[in-house]
Amino acid sequence: MTGRQRSRRGAALCLAFALLLALCGCGGKDNRTGDEPKEEPVKYADRYIDLHLHLDGAITTEIALKLAAKQNIELPTSDAAELTRLLTVPEDCESLNDFLECFDLPLSLMQTPEGLEEAVYLVAENIRSQGVVYAEIRFAPQLHTDRGMTQEDAINAALRGLKRTPLKANLILCCMRGEGNEAANYDTLELAKKYLVADGGVVAVDIAGAEALYPTENYRELFERAAEYGIPFTIHAGEADGAQSVRLAIEFGAKRIGHGVRIYEDPEVVKLVKEKGITLEMCPTSNRQTHAVEDMDKYPLIDYVKDGIRVTLNTDDMGIEGITLADEFRYMEQKFGLTAEQEQQLLANAIDAAFTTDEVKAELRKELGITR
Ligand code: HPA
Ligand code: ZN
Repeated sequence: MTGRQRSRRGAALCLAFALLLALCGCGGKDNRTGDEPKEEPVKYADRYIDLHLHLDGAITTEIALKLAAKQNIELPTSDAAELTRLLTVPEDCESLNDFLECFDLPLSLMQTPEGLEEAVYLVAENIRSQGVVYAEIRFAPQLHTDRGMTQEDAINAALRGLKRTPLKANLILCCMRGEGNEAANYDTLELAKKYLVADGGVVAVDIAGAEALYPTENYRELFERAAEYGIPFTIHAGEADGAQSVRLAIEFGAKRIGHGVRIYEDPEVVKLVKEKGITLEMCPTSNRQTHAVEDMDKYPLIDYVKDGIRVTLNTDDMGIEGITLADEFRYMEQKFGLTAEQEQQLLANAIDAAFTTDEVKAELRKELGITR
């Protein structure tokens, strides 16, 4: 076919297409007067804030391979698919206690200053590439001392990792529920006091671990001390234990609750959360996998949002769960019809509750187009 033949045939095809459009009324002349209200395309969130993200739970296969190579650590397998299986929660996970067993392998890759620094950097870069614009990465310094690091060494290594990423991010230091680690928890608190900044470093403390085995009541004095030191804190509660665990956390002075999903078990606690403007850091996939909520059809996130509770949507342990924060937003859209507007509300709530400065909050609101 010559060039001219080709262009003539092209013109004929265009004409036929235009006729077809005119016939089916789906093209050509626009009959609108211009007075109709313009329909805005629905804009679901594509940038996110993660307030509840555990470093050891965020080690993906790719990151694990990099950390192992950097430190000359031999992984239990060289097969990526098998490694993914080892790093992610098994199908038969029955409880938070089972779930917490998945952390040994990622933790073994973060027992040197180089490993820990690199892990913070790689996790931050990973979530940044997924649309996260602000994150609070939490880790327990006492879980990084197997090979000679002190808790303070661990904090300094994590801070170096944080400095290398352009992501707006902060660190939350976790104490751990458990036995025989009381002194370690108080050391974490002292270090939090020493390193506390308003933004760009350590901004708060938390307590993680097996809530059903080591109840929140056991940690009253620890959080009294945190309050005395003026350290902001969030507490994992209402996940493996019931609503009264959340009530206690609020009594201790927590303004944010890790999960808090089970407050529905006690309407008085729901009322308390609303009245006090407590923020819930909700993590649906984690809650499904740990069976914090047995029937996901009744997952209460949207009900809480509608009820005016300050809900945020987070990953918890993205590596172990095999998800991203974007996945969690899509999950709630598809399962419960979470709307674009409700997503904006979740993000606005996250900014309001973030452990950072008013300046950073203002930047985030601008970046996400939040005016409320
Ligand atoms: N709960 C308690 N401890 C944890 C969790 C959690 O969901 N994830 C990692 N450590
Ligand atoms: Zn958590």
